[in-house]
Amino acid sequence: MQGRLKDRVAVVTGAAAGLGKAAALRLASEGAIVEILDLNDGSAAVAEIEALGGTSHSIICDCANEEQIAAAVKAIEARHGRIDVLVNNAGILSGRKPWHELSKQEVERYIDVNYLGYFLVTKAFYPLILKSQTPRVIMVASRTYFLANPGQMAYVASKGAVMGMTRVLAKEMGEQGIPVNAVMPGMVATPGTTEHSQEEAFNRVMGNQAIKKRVQPEHLAGLIAFLASDDAELITGQMILCDGGGYLH
Ligand SMILES: NC(=O)c1ccc[n+]([C@@H]2O[C@H](COP(=O)([O-])OP(=O)(O)OC[C@H]3O[C@@H](n4cnc5c(N)ncnc54)[C@H](O)[C@@H]3O)[C@@H](O)[C@H]2O)c1
Repeated sequence: MQGRLKDRVAVVTGAAAGLGKAAALRLASEGAIVEILDLNDGSAAVAEIEALGGTSHSIICDCANEEQIAAAVKAIEARHGRIDVLVNNAGILSGRKPWHELSKQEVERYIDVNYLGYFLVTKAFYPLILKSQTPRVIMVASRTYFLANPGQMAYVASKGAVMGMTRVLAKEMGEQGIPVNAVMPGMVATPGTTEHSQEEAFNRVMGNQAIKKRVQPEHLAGLIAFLASDDAELITGQMILCDGGGYLH
């Protein structure tokens, strides 16, 4: 496909559904070849990309599991020899529970998937990222870190850790000319959020925004595509919100 990302190889984790799927579709519509890594079957997303005239493959992979990640890297290396864009997005959302009722295991689960998962995936793909002429690493974080949402300590802490990782990697990978950024959507209706939140919660959040329009997966996908593009070559170490001005500080 033609476009500003023509023939770039993009890996999007957690792209069988929700924000990751929207990002995969957008990157493909701009010409990228998209590799989908997800716990669940991503063939529906692949079929949508192929219907657009794009190219995509999906690999079942638990992005918190080193062996499964290594197998995915091997398959993608065999197919393309490099990757140009890594979007770390696979994550688990949370309902509300007072912090003192959380068990060690519950907190560890968020750290494992939402933080360590991003680290393990980035580390495993690093040799393939180094082979790119136009490398990009994009982390899907969460503005809940700034909002300090009560009842979401484990989730918020895991996503806050992603911001720390983004800032350090931006400096370390800067040596190799690799931009690393984090993006943060407002509250978006996806399978992950609708499991815990009703329609009224989305409208309440929208009511607190400067621009009172519901944030859609496509809004975040557009930001991700921009960060993947040549125009974003010197944007690095940034935490970019896409929330209609719901958090202005
Ligand atoms: N939707 C929002 O309002 C919102 C806001 C801020 C941040 N986020 C972040 O965006 C990302 C995507 O959220 P979403 O709303 O699309 O969630 P979602 O639950 O709708 O989709 C997440 C996808 O990730 C996959 N996944 C989960 N754990 C995985 C694992 N260990 N390995 C591989 N795949 C895994 C799921 O199978 C699913 O396809 C998450 O990191 C989330 O924290 C979402």
